[in-house]
Amino acid sequence: MLLLEFGKRSTAETNLDKLLLLLVEEAKQLLEAERATVFLLDVKRRQLWSKVALGTDAIRVPLGRGIAGTVAATGKSLNIPDAYRDGRFNPEVDRQTGYHTRSMLTVPMKNNHGEVIGVFQVLNRKKGGFDQRDEELLAILAGQAATSAENAQLYEQLLKSSEDTILRLASAAEFRDKETHMHLGRMSRYSAILAEEMGFPSPWVESLRLASPLHDIGKIGVPDAILRKPGKLTEEEWVEMRKHTLYGADILKDSDSELLQMSYRIALCHHEWWNGQGYPRGLKGEEIPIEARIATVADVFDALTSRRVYKPSFPLDETVEIIKKDSGVHYDPKVIEVFLKALPRLTEVMRECAAANAIVSDPVSASPPVASPVK
Ligand code: C2E
Ligand code: SIN
Ligand code: SIN
Ligand code: FE
Ligand code: FE
Repeated sequence: MLLLEFGKRSTAETNLDKLLLLLVEEAKQLLEAERATVFLLDVKRRQLWSKVALGTDAIRVPLGRGIAGTVAATGKSLNIPDAYRDGRFNPEVDRQTGYHTRSMLTVPMKNNHGEVIGVFQVLNRKKGGFDQRDEELLAILAGQAATSAENAQLYEQLLKSSEDTILRLASAAEFRDKETHMHLGRMSRYSAILAEEMGFPSPWVESLRLASPLHDIGKIGVPDAILRKPGKLTEEEWVEMRKHTLYGADILKDSDSELLQMSYRIALCHHEWWNGQGYPRGLKGEEIPIEARIATVADVFDALTSRRVYKPSFPLDETVEIIKKDSGVHYDPKVIEVFLKALPRLTEVMRECAAANAIVSDPVSASPPVASPVK
């Protein structure tokens, strides 16, 4: 269910744009107007901004000012035969667009609760002014625009909260180790870059970006004394540590959400090796789900370039050598091929994150930048 919704993310956005564009075109034709604009209300900034204004850049007008701003504030339509004779008209927009407004019909877009979420405006009826019938027609189009805009906004909120929840939940597992919070953010972005460069469709890439931070959620079941041990683990401790894959799988299994199913496979399989020598099940080659094969490379790339309680960070060139050497052994050779090509993008993200948190060591500046992939 979730994946379907996540998959629809970009689709929802473009669908909204397309739909609004369609409504704007329809409004222009039906009402014989020269221009039509949909303004959405930005409640926080108390502004309207033009979601769709054909032929112009985004326009912002303050709530309560101008015709559009007045309609948004009062929730009542305004039908104005000559804008320049109306004291409420704000000629600033004409100045910005180089347009000359004459007649202007502006109706509020209301959601199911009757709250104004924007306005729909048509300008310059080709013959005469706008009449009662035009007002009724535009009100219908505005209703359709309101419904789809509100759905898209609700959907966006739901998506944001899911993403936020996932990251918080994932970092809870490693809360005891402060460095790992950053690790999750980077690792998730590396995974998305690799998947994108491998040519996976963007909804899948987006799912991987969201699912991958949960890969080590099972560390929540690993005792502090092991997880935070500054030195090498004993054989017994290793047995415990390896169980984090099984604990994670246990936490994430049997969900109806395709996104969580993907994170289940990643949690369970991100320490499997291409040659079958990994854990917990010793899966081999393509028996290992592709999302896990990608996440593995992202995970190790970040583990190597970061400081851990048990190891220092490695410089970038050394990291690349270590990973390259294990292509076809630990890692899927196809993923490594893409990894090498994507290095400039990966190191860009690393730099960004290092800049965002200067406390984290920056292996990029500690070694010469990689101009082209080492092959
Ligand atoms: P992690 O720190 O997130 O490391 C993820 C994976 O990165 C490791 O999986 C390993 O494949 C790779 N990696 C990390 N450091 C190195 C390194 O120095 N050289 C190479 N070649 N690869 C490296 P792995 O080994 O299965 O470890 C899983 C988790 O176990 C690690 O996650 C970490 O939490 C813990 N762990 C591993 N070794 C030690 C250790 O010596 N001491 C402690 N306290 N924890 C360890
Ligand atoms: C206004 O509503 O006063 C200006 C907005 C516009 O001209 O589109
Ligand atoms: C995408 O979803 O297309 C981009 C993924 C990312 O880098 O965050
Ligand atoms: Fe792990
Ligand atoms: Fe990890």
